[in-house]
Amino acid sequence: MNINGKNRRGRSRFRTALVLAVILLAGLYGYGRFIEPYRLSVTEEEITIEGYFRSPGTVRIVFLADLHIIDAGRRERRLLETVEELAPDLILIAGDFIKTGADPGETIAAAARLRAPLGVYGVVGNIDISHRQSRRLLQGLEAAGVDMLRDRRRRLRAGDLEFDLVGFDLNPSQEEVAEVFAGRESGFPQIVLTHWPYLLDILTPHQPELILCGHTHGGQVRLPVFGSFFARLLAGTHYDQGLFTVLGSRVYVTRGVGMTTHQIRLFCPPEIVFLTVNFVNREFQ
Ligand SMILES: [Fe+2]
Repeated sequence: MNINGKNRRGRSRFRTALVLAVILLAGLYGYGRFIEPYRLSVTEEEITIEGYFRSPGTVRIVFLADLHIIDAGRRERRLLETVEELAPDLILIAGDFIKTGADPGETIAAAARLRAPLGVYGVVGNIDISHRQSRRLLQGLEAAGVDMLRDRRRRLRAGDLEFDLVGFDLNPSQEEVAEVFAGRESGFPQIVLTHWPYLLDILTPHQPELILCGHTHGGQVRLPVFGSFFARLLAGTHYDQGLFTVLGSRVYVTRGVGMTTHQIRLFCPPEIVFLTVNFVNREFQ
């Protein structure tokens, strides 16, 4: 075979590979843009925490974050139906209820449909605060039955279990965090709700039993080898999704339900977290 023949064959192989790569990328983009954002998943996790508790027991929590609601679309309808089916004791929402620029009315109407025997509690996210109708949104959420915890604690009882739920505002100072924890009574487990995982540095020294946060969206696009590329690059945190132990506190970071500026989810489907948390007493030695 002459050199021209070899060159022709090489060029045609390159062209085929290029076409296949373009088809693969277009397929991935189509899947990430139009299919995966609606594949709402339920992550069930049972966490057992040992300590010395006055009233140990179990609480079943639906934990959500980053709803980024625009309107009552199919993801929102599926979300409300699934939460109702799970029938938790308690619903916790770690902020970013709304999508930038969306009308708060739709978000408030969706939140009003969430119901649980111990209540629905939330904290503010950065998008909730920066929204141009932030005040209307937050007042509407309260009116819809979401108890927005801004550096506040609540004592709750689930069967035998008595515990404290503590919610933090977006950017509390170290002193404000210390003040909230100063109100802690010994023997009652502390479940902390906060929007972003950046606060872990100032929360974990107080050793709450469980910290729940969102904001990272799990990176939205997770690739083999790179993992949560966007979460680590843009959110600047190692705590991108899932369960961690930090200074003795259990920490769950959810990849959330909605999407931020980039309307794509790839290998990182929207998540409802269903936690069964057992607080058990350690045997005296
Ligand atoms: Fe956020």
